[in-house]
Amino acid sequence: EKEGYPHFMLKEIHEQPRALRSTLHGLMSDAMMGEAAEMLADADTVFVTGAGTSYHASEYFALISMRLAERPVIAFIASEYGSYVNAAGPRDVLVAVSQSGETMDTLKALRAFKKRGSRVISLTNAVDSAIARESDVAVYTRAGPEIGVAATKTFLTQTLALTWLAVETATRIGSLRGGEEMELLKELESTPKHVEESISTTSELVKKLAERIAGSKSMYYLSRGVGLPVAREGALKIKEIAYVHAEAYPAGESKHGPIALVEPSFPVVFTIPNDAELQRMLLGNIEEMRARGGVIVGVLPRGSELRERVDLAIEVPRAHWIATALTHTPPLQLLAYHVASLKGLDPDKPRNLAKTVTVE
Ligand code: F6R
Repeated sequence: EKEGYPHFMLKEIHEQPRALRSTLHGLMSDAMMGEAAEMLADADTVFVTGAGTSYHASEYFALISMRLAERPVIAFIASEYGSYVNAAGPRDVLVAVSQSGETMDTLKALRAFKKRGSRVISLTNAVDSAIARESDVAVYTRAGPEIGVAATKTFLTQTLALTWLAVETATRIGSLRGGEEMELLKELESTPKHVEESISTTSELVKKLAERIAGSKSMYYLSRGVGLPVAREGALKIKEIAYVHAEAYPAGESKHGPIALVEPSFPVVFTIPNDAELQRMLLGNIEEMRARGGVIVGVLPRGSELRERVDLAIEVPRAHWIATALTHTPPLQLLAYHVASLKGLDPDKPRNLAKTVTVE
């Protein structure tokens, strides 16, 4: 039931704090989490894969893990497994991420890695799904059923669970400074509250932004570091439900070609993590885009100095950078939702798309 919301997507966006609370609860009581962290800490090479939104969560996991555990983690898009699987062996671990647990591309990747003797950890939202059943260790998000075709609450619960796993793994490897583990886990425990605030404080502003850009045919979503998968997720949402051509890429790439497309009123949405070094580098990219007359939107931590450098600042809670996907994604989901609504499209039923893709 939509519980008074006009669409499931909007309901599910607002359900995110609750979904995160259930997921946190599960993570804390599930012995499989410890086993998964143990397995990752012992692995030679860690691979992580998924499709669509689940790939974005996978990339987020790789970026957080590399920063915390100081080891390489290779993220790849599930349908591209053929290019990676020959590099895997019995000492390696694959993390397979899938909301439904039934996506054929991800299942095929899992099977191919198992054939090479690698062990598999799955993260799904569906108990007893094929991907959960065929993995060695199954970890779950507890987002509840997601009816909207566009993934929303499942992305936030995936990034929460995967960040938790990255912290637990780094703890076992011994790469965190004294007390850092507790500090990071505490940050993750605060995410339901942060997401609640991110939704409530940005909703009105995002609606206005939607009106401003609803006529745009094309947009960029830029970021760096842990903000990049969030930018990719923002672009995917607006493509799939509002049919706006949106491209996400690392902001440093602009000068290597894409900036040629930017002209007055071209929307450029920056995802700006709460990290001084990333902000310093993003400032240069913001200036480049402004100089071409782009409409610059910044999703940034409250109080950031970059607020003055963008045309429209969407302020989100000032949380630790490991929580970027949680704090920064909600306004991007809402933007896609409102642009779709303004165009008279049904965000719950985008054309050409199925909720779960069980063909290759
Ligand atoms: C995007 C979306 C899809 C899915 C993808 C993977 O909003 O819903 O891109 O993320 O099809 O599905 P799962 O996670 O079920 O494997």
